[in-house]
Amino acid sequence: MVKMAIFYYSSTGTNYQLAQWAESAAKDAGAEVRVRKIKELAPEEAIAQNPAWKEHYEATKDVPEATNDDLDWADGFIFSVPTRFGNVPSQAKQFFDQAGGLWAEGKLVNKVVSAMTSAQNPHGGQEATTLNLYTTMFHWGAIIVGPGYTDPVTFAAGGNPYGISVSVDQDGNMIEDVEAAVKHQAKRTVEVTKKIAE
Ligand SMILES: Cc1cc2nc3c(=O)[nH]c(=O)nc-3n(C[C@H](O)[C@H](O)[C@H](O)COP(=O)(O)O)c2cc1C
Repeated sequence: MVKMAIFYYSSTGTNYQLAQWAESAAKDAGAEVRVRKIKELAPEEAIAQNPAWKEHYEATKDVPEATNDDLDWADGFIFSVPTRFGNVPSQAKQFFDQAGGLWAEGKLVNKVVSAMTSAQNPHGGQEATTLNLYTTMFHWGAIIVGPGYTDPVTFAAGGNPYGISVSVDQDGNMIEDVEAAVKHQAKRTVEVTKKIAE
């Protein structure tokens, strides 16, 4: 069975939902799946000032945190992170940076990677975030698998070929219906991982 690690960071739940859709599709595609929360780094005082953040933080306390062992274990990764000024959140960057030891040992080479994101605005930097994440993956020697236009569901979800993205309204609700597109991206990532890991 091909091994997939789905890593997400989420303040208010959007990317946790994307990760859960990806988990369901990856399992359906025959993968062994670990869903891992990228560790929160914000101080408790900052989290407490935002009720939606606080609620999500408490609700996901039991989700296991992402570790280097998960990176080492998996044949393929799916990342889901929110857009922060057109880039990945610092929590994700810290997770990438602490993988330096694995990188030095060559243990990230040929891992298959695909990424998803969310942002408040329809043109708020989704593609930039995904491409910025992929920049790190090039350094890892990973094999990047975007959804491209390999299935019409991508068009229905806004047509982002780099990685499915969704916008959220002021209340944190997703605006576009991206569930089918996220599931397609996850299935495609598993299928490519199977070919690479064989
Ligand atoms: C510090 C910060 C920076 C953000 N930068 C952007 C941005 O550049 N563009 C945008 O449209 N939304 C931006 N947002 C909104 C987030 O992307 C949005 O809240 C997030 O995608 C929701 O995902 P989550 O529910 O998984 O946390 C930003 C939010 C924060 C807190």
